[in-house]
Amino acid sequence: MNARIIKNKRRPWEAPTLRPVQLTGLNKFGKRTHHSHDDQECIEGRSIDALLEEFGSPLFVTSEQRLRSNQQSLMQAFASRYPNVIHGWSYKTNYTSAICAILHQEGSWAEVVSAFEYEKARSLGVPGNRIIFNGPHKSTSILQRAIREGARIHVDHFDELEQLERIAAQQGIIARVAIRLNFDTGYTEPWSRFGFNLENQEALDAAVRIHRSQHLKLCGLHSHIGTFILDVRAYQAQVRILANFMLELERTLDLELDYLDIGGGFASRNALQGIYLPPEQVVPDFDQYAEAICPTLIETLGSRTSEGRPLPQLVLESGRAVVDDAQSLLTRVVANKNLPDGRRALIIDAGVNVLFTGFWYNHKVQLTRPNQGYPEETVLYGPLCMNIDVVRHSVSLPPLKSGDSLLITPVGAYNNTQWMQFIEYRPAVVLLHAGSEEVSVIRRAENLQSMSQHDELPVQLHDVGPLCA
Ligand SMILES: Cc1ncc(COP(=O)(O)O)c(C=O)c1O
Repeated sequence: MNARIIKNKRRPWEAPTLRPVQLTGLNKFGKRTHHSHDDQECIEGRSIDALLEEFGSPLFVTSEQRLRSNQQSLMQAFASRYPNVIHGWSYKTNYTSAICAILHQEGSWAEVVSAFEYEKARSLGVPGNRIIFNGPHKSTSILQRAIREGARIHVDHFDELEQLERIAAQQGIIARVAIRLNFDTGYTEPWSRFGFNLENQEALDAAVRIHRSQHLKLCGLHSHIGTFILDVRAYQAQVRILANFMLELERTLDLELDYLDIGGGFASRNALQGIYLPPEQVVPDFDQYAEAICPTLIETLGSRTSEGRPLPQLVLESGRAVVDDAQSLLTRVVANKNLPDGRRALIIDAGVNVLFTGFWYNHKVQLTRPNQGYPEETVLYGPLCMNIDVVRHSVSLPPLKSGDSLLITPVGAYNNTQWMQFIEYRPAVVLLHAGSEEVSVIRRAENLQSMSQHDELPVQLHDVGPLCA
């Protein structure tokens, strides 16, 4: 009788699968890749579960305190080594209004690269003369406004130079402009598609042309040598080249420039794919960047200061290093899967549609509650019905069940701007206020209405006809 019951309860036969032996989740240094103390149940005192409960999943969570302190540390590192420094907040890195507003409250100017970003900065109350206008495409109408409002316009090409001359002549004013330069630092791949090339004299030609124009005045030089630059010597080379060109122009054209803008590119504490060591070991801090840049600049401009002329203003356009670790992404597990090759996989509700940087970073993935389960290499898939939607190709995690949450960091740079409206609604972004328990929504989650507001449905198509019959 008993034997029959047991027999009836047997599960049907399954083909065995072979799994490669996992070295108990050891990383390349022989350490366990998952520790129970990696669990994080709260962000700045707010329970992750409660945040997800209230604002939905997935959810971007922004730390006001971290954002402000990052900006302050950047400025402190540079202002303690150089007398005249400003920071232009790179809008494209994260133009969520509240994030821009916090950085403007800290004193950052706006660095914009399109009519939209220019208009956004102005709508947030940034005066035109506190806007740095970069980029290869500036329409005539936005340039007319930017010139009128005294923005710092960084010229990208000769056609823009002509366009600016025309507009300034029409307005009957002398427009103050700077030129963007590209050159080889010897440490980074030159971004030669932007600005005027220094080595082939194009930059000199542009400077001479501005100098001869009745409607333009050259007031600065700009360059942005790339992004996520880990070798501070690249910046030493950059400022030496920029400063020497400034001296050459001042000497040969008998003019005085006001500023040197060295762009952005400082790395954030993120794990770039293909980089062997962890970010804590390879990413320089602001002091290390400043220590490489400021003394080199002061030394190269020694001949200028010895004549009693002040050092030019130094402009920083740091983006990712200021905002990346000020934002986290909360996500919930949708389902578990075992792949035919034996690997474990999880589907989560945040994919590359909202985490665009998953294409080039190995973001840190943490549990949000203790889990004593055996960690195994796991593939993290997003929710999209598209093969490209892989958030992590391999991450060591213990077993999780649907509904469990995960914390993905740092995600503040280039996700809230490069995310795609693709397949799923984009989620809410909240702000954890500094100095209070308050949490505010700073960007609402999308819904059908917000997603459809740009669609127009011609009247003939209002009725889907046969389907409703
Ligand atoms: C002109 C310019 N300035 C600043 C930035 C910000 O760069 P990052 O986020 O690497 O600091 C960029 C980004 O590409 C840029 O193109």
